[in-house]
Amino acid sequence: MDSKAKKKEQFLEMMRSRHACKEFDQRKIPEDDLKYILEAGRLSPSSFGVEQWRFVVVQNQAIKEKIEAASWGQKQISTSSDLVVVVARKDVRSSDDYVKSQIKRWGLEQSAYEGVMEIYKAWVDGREDSILTLWSEKQCYIAAANMMSAAKFIGIDSCPIEGFDANKVNEILNLDANFHTALLLPFGYCNKKARKKFRLNFEDVVRFV
Ligand SMILES: Cc1cc2nc3c(=O)[nH]c(=O)nc-3n(C[C@H](O)[C@H](O)[C@H](O)COP(=O)(O)O)c2cc1C
Repeated sequence: MDSKAKKKEQFLEMMRSRHACKEFDQRKIPEDDLKYILEAGRLSPSSFGVEQWRFVVVQNQAIKEKIEAASWGQKQISTSSDLVVVVARKDVRSSDDYVKSQIKRWGLEQSAYEGVMEIYKAWVDGREDSILTLWSEKQCYIAAANMMSAAKFIGIDSCPIEGFDANKVNEILNLDANFHTALLLPFGYCNKKARKKFRLNFEDVVRFV
């Protein structure tokens, strides 16, 4: 196998073997590996490069248990080594200082900066608050997918969790009003083998035109 074929196979093998783990064993993820996973999240693409996310790493067992109670008792949470809570920014209108500073860092001339902000305004500002938060959450899901893939690439399991009461989790984490919990991502080592994987066939999901 040439090196490109090897890389393709390694990546697909990671995709095939990643699964939603329902309960982890008690092993801790080495700090280096956890940072590697978070780095994959940090480097993820986002609309306008605004990075509409923050990653809250919950290592405190009592806090994990509170979050689990707000998530229909899903054991993946309390048994994980580290629970990454992906939180979405709500202050993402063109008038928000956070957005201005994210775009300003590109170092554009004033007129070019204003041009980008006009496009941003047209794309983003007209949305209702709740839709705007969903827009940020979409970006969070991209970061989350990359973190799960990076984790599996180095032998670490995960489970994306959407089944939780976001208001309760916001409160447990004492999140600033500008943030809203988008997704829970527990990481660790699964205590069971993956279940059979079900996916539609390639030709069922792909259409070439
Ligand atoms: C956005 C999202 C939310 C999910 N929420 C939950 C959840 O709350 N609890 C859970 O056990 N699995 C959850 N899952 C896992 C899916 O059920 C799982 O990925 C799917 O059944 C495919 O199985 P696989 O990931 O093992 O291949 C979620 C997955 C995604 C992408």
